[in-house]
Amino acid sequence: MKINNRLKMIGDLVQANSFCLDVGCDHALLDIYLVKRKANIKAIASDIKEGPLDQAKKNIKREHLEKEIEVRLGDGLSTYTDSVDTVIISGMGGRNIIGICKNNFNIFKKVDTYIISPNNYQEDVKKFFCKNGYYISNEELVKDSNFIYQIIIFKKGKKKYSKKDYFFGPVLLEKKGKLFEEYYTREMKSREILIALLPKNYRLKKYFTKKEIQMIKNVLED
Ligand SMILES: C[S@@+](CC[C@H](N)C(=O)[O-])C[C@H]1O[C@@H](n2cnc3c(N)ncnc32)[C@H](O)[C@@H]1O
Repeated sequence: MKINNRLKMIGDLVQANSFCLDVGCDHALLDIYLVKRKANIKAIASDIKEGPLDQAKKNIKREHLEKEIEVRLGDGLSTYTDSVDTVIISGMGGRNIIGICKNNFNIFKKVDTYIISPNNYQEDVKKFFCKNGYYISNEELVKDSNFIYQIIIFKKGKKKYSKKDYFFGPVLLEKKGKLFEEYYTREMKSREILIALLPKNYRLKKYFTKKEIQMIKNVLED
């Protein structure tokens, strides 16, 4: 079964011997990849909609993985069961991800490891997790169909982060590399376009956007 670069990278970041809950599994391709590639993985593939779950069930059956992957219908973390150690939420907006965590906050706090790949509002996601009992243990960038995605691993614990850490990601800031340069060059250009398009009276927005552009320039030139 074919899997895209983004899902492959997420799968590769999961530790062997994990019990995973994939929230918003859609087709369950990630869970199938995981069980086939990593040792001793159990997974719950869950989704809020029946349509994607029907497809997930078909895919799992085709691969004869019904024993390893359980399918559950439900909203967000409501499909959690005790002894799940890793929750994966990917391919959704950052605000939806934060909402999913807030809606079942008592369950949210039980989980050891989160692997999160938000499509947007990545900074808000980092702040939410780090203000609620987690630290950033790893971060990766992955390119897929010309988009560059962030994947962030949160683990239970506490670390202090600066504004710059939240903006760039503390681990990405350490690692940098080619994809980092490409990602933040794109971020800089989109902000330059925004400034050119903003009406005159959006002075504050322009001011903060210019500050972000300067911060990106400094890091890229460093
Ligand atoms: C764009 S797909 C992403 C699929 C896959 N996780 C990936 O990264 O490619 C988003 C999926 O999340 C599901 N979803 C959205 N909100 C959800 C929620 N609150 N709880 C569970 N699933 C949700 C949607 O039904 C959809 O199947």
